[in-house]
Amino acid sequence: MTIGVSVVGAGFWAREMHLPALARLPGVKITSVVATTEESARRAAEPYGARALTDIAQAAADPGTDVLDIVAPPDVHLLAVESAASHGKHAICIKPLARDLDEADRMLAAVRQAGTRLFYAENVPFIPALHEAKKVVDAGGIGDVFRVKACEGIGEPHSDWFYDPARSGGGAILDMAVHSLEFCRFFAGAPITGVYAEAGTFVHNGRTGVEDTAVLTLRFANGVIGQCEDSWSLVGAMDSRFEVYGTRGRILVDNLHRQPLQVVTGTKGWSYPMPIEGLVADGHLAMLGHFLDCLRTGAPSLSDGQVGRDVLAVVDAAYRSVTSGQKETVR
Ligand SMILES: NC(=O)c1ccc[n+]([C@@H]2O[C@H](COP(=O)([O-])OP(=O)(O)OC[C@H]3O[C@@H](n4cnc5c(N)ncnc54)[C@H](O)[C@@H]3O)[C@@H](O)[C@H]2O)c1
Repeated sequence: MTIGVSVVGAGFWAREMHLPALARLPGVKITSVVATTEESARRAAEPYGARALTDIAQAAADPGTDVLDIVAPPDVHLLAVESAASHGKHAICIKPLARDLDEADRMLAAVRQAGTRLFYAENVPFIPALHEAKKVVDAGGIGDVFRVKACEGIGEPHSDWFYDPARSGGGAILDMAVHSLEFCRFFAGAPITGVYAEAGTFVHNGRTGVEDTAVLTLRFANGVIGQCEDSWSLVGAMDSRFEVYGTRGRILVDNLHRQPLQVVTGTKGWSYPMPIEGLVADGHLAMLGHFLDCLRTGAPSLSDGQVGRDVLAVVDAAYRSVTSGQKETVR
């Protein structure tokens, strides 16, 4: 069965990750690409023989489209999910699921009412190295897990909307810590009950009031302790590290140093002459393949809208903690 997918968004992530991944998956037809301008939609759509659109409702109404893959800024997520649901179409929504919990609840209500599905496009649980790590943990290879830690950082966001909380919903906690939190949840194996957060704006304070740096400490219902260090303030290069501590061992996945051959030169910095594609190493191909398989078979998803909502509930508690200066309960 061929699944028709319309990609909402023609920016960095749609062009670099979702469109190439979808094009590589068997049984998928990319029907259209939607963007704010006709020209950017056309540039992204043309290589895939897809239609270029500027209206999400038109994409959702297309009888050849079964699912909207939403890869646009957070202020577009709710209206795109609602548009898909109102036309009886499924939705894949990129992280963060929404700008806040109220929007997330409205999304879940829309798909429940329409009888459609909502998938949460968070790549972390699909990273191959983390899958291998999970197998080791599940087989008891490091004993009982008692601590988890993740660091997700970049130097600066590439588009203006990230710096505008009315569009983005927040700073590094909402944009980056969602990845770290999902890692911690995946490995701790229990819900997060309490969060203490420290955050500040240190590098981009001339441009935005939202936090560019955050450190979160977490407590899980089973007693596990977690820590997330997330930022837009890493000068020079990214960070993407995940750690699991057990009573008989520990695991480190440094997802940036996943490349088998690393070369540093004075002029070029680090380069990777034998690169593993981000599509594979970061789990995007596996994630989208999983969502489409779920649609074909009706199987439950590892990452559905409720997962995105649960992560946002922790983000909400973290923002309350930044304001109160206290540890906050996840509601
Ligand atoms: N690891 C990850 O999973 C990852 C990485 C980067 C970005 N993202 C997420 O992807 C989403 C998009 O980020 P980006 O970096 O591609 O942004 P971007 O600024 O590069 O592109 C945004 C795109 O959205 C389109 N758009 C905006 N409003 C629209 C509307 N109303 N209708 C249709 N299209 C609209 C724009 O035309 C543009 O093509 C964000 O939610 C971001 O958090 C996820």
